[in-house]
Amino acid sequence: MKIVIITVSDRASRGEYEDLSGPEIEKIILEGGIQAEIVREIVPDTEHLITSAMLQNQGADYIITSGGTGLSPRDITPEITERLCEKSLPGIAEMLRAESFRETPNALLSRGYAGILGRTIIVNFPGSVKAVRLCTRVILPVLEHGVSMMEGKGH
Ligand code: MTE
Repeated sequence: MKIVIITVSDRASRGEYEDLSGPEIEKIILEGGIQAEIVREIVPDTEHLITSAMLQNQGADYIITSGGTGLSPRDITPEITERLCEKSLPGIAEMLRAESFRETPNALLSRGYAGILGRTIIVNFPGSVKAVRLCTRVILPVLEHGVSMMEGKGH
């Protein structure tokens, strides 16, 4: 399967700090035994750049974003994801928040969305390394089944 990881961060995109979350997601997926081609990108919290990164990677099995789910004025990842998606995957977003809440009550402040754009499942994670570590582990067990369901192979 092809998985595109998009880190959404003004500061990481400017090189003010190293993106640690994208590589962490990749590492956990590969260590989890998923046979995946993984591509990583970093974009700032800018509407047209997030939109074009998602549209350009439409066709991948998954787009996982990290960051921009909080409450600061420039956090817009969930709104863009929801606008682009044709279908919602509320179970993923709900479980990411629920499991994250066990780690920190601040998880309630993550507005992450999950949905389907064409043949691509898009999932928003929060930006911190701690958060992506937990969120990647939550979705890992369904990654392969998600792809076969998207291909119409049923259960
Ligand atoms: N989820 C987990 N599992 N662990 C965390 O440390 N941090 C929270 C939350 N979700 C966190 C988490 C915090 S502090 C914020 S502000 C929101 O995610 C949004 O993060 P973002 O703006 O980087 O997307």
